[in-house]
Amino acid sequence: MDIIKLIPSLKSFLKPFYLADKKIGLVPTMGALHEGHLALVRRSKAENDLTVVTIFVNPAQFNNPDDLDKYPRSLDADLALLRDEGVDLVFVPEVEEIYPQPIGISINFSLLENTLEGKFRPNHFGGVAIIVAKLFHLIAPDVAYFGQKDLQQVSIISRLVSDLHFDLEIAMIASVREKNGLALSSRNQRLNEREREQATVLYQSLQFSKTELLLGTSWLDIVERAASLIAEKPLVRLEYLELVNVHDFTLAKEINSQIPQAICIAAYVGDIRLIDNILLSD
Ligand code: PAJ
Repeated sequence: MDIIKLIPSLKSFLKPFYLADKKIGLVPTMGALHEGHLALVRRSKAENDLTVVTIFVNPAQFNNPDDLDKYPRSLDADLALLRDEGVDLVFVPEVEEIYPQPIGISINFSLLENTLEGKFRPNHFGGVAIIVAKLFHLIAPDVAYFGQKDLQQVSIISRLVSDLHFDLEIAMIASVREKNGLALSSRNQRLNEREREQATVLYQSLQFSKTELLLGTSWLDIVERAASLIAEKPLVRLEYLELVNVHDFTLAKEINSQIPQAICIAAYVGDIRLIDNILLSD
């Protein structure tokens, strides 16, 4: 497995693969890898000639400096996991390599980022779009893999790809969960035992809401009942529980079987902010 930190070395590594018309899969990450990330890696390995994983904690997408400082970093363990998966190349740039000067542009997705994560984390998606666009240019993959766990991120990136004519495919991989339903996340490492137990209410609320919706209960009633379910867990503070139309993340108030819809949740568990979602079609 090659580990590259500099852009010129990345380009010379990739050149022969472009010339030989090899299929390249890209898995962008911020490290602190777990089985969720590895599910993306395995799909890429299965579908491509070359799998490139990037590990970069992207300062531009953190609106809270404390969150950036506390973001877990475990490079040695990450590299060992990726080696075991048979990854070909890991790109691990320093911040100065990616941002040699202050960013001169901003990307705004208007409607798509005015709701949910966009609303609660101002400028977050602009920062995601900039790093992802940079990686798409630097690596020029055939397919890029993203997790359903961050569903709004997938919608934003799909929009970035179509608006800017990136010549690649976006693959979305289903969320990997613990046995108790908690979606794997690098942030889970920061939960203590009680918080970890109470955090399972997020997925329980999603499942409850989906079942009730399909039974015909009104969305307003569902939100009220899910909120009281969550209120039973003193360490959990609900930020939002919303029904959305997946392609543009507009809010919905009822089921529309003609288009993909999802229920999305965000909540603080202690002082850790977690998100999760469930597709109505699954
Ligand atoms: P990160 O949080 O490290 O996640 C990297 C990828 O792994 C994302 O596509 C995310 O959706 C996916 N992922 C995380 N947890 C998952 C789970 N439980 N099941 C399935 N997939 C999961 O998302 C980012 O990094 C960054 O925003 C990034 C796209 C790398 C840009 O900086």
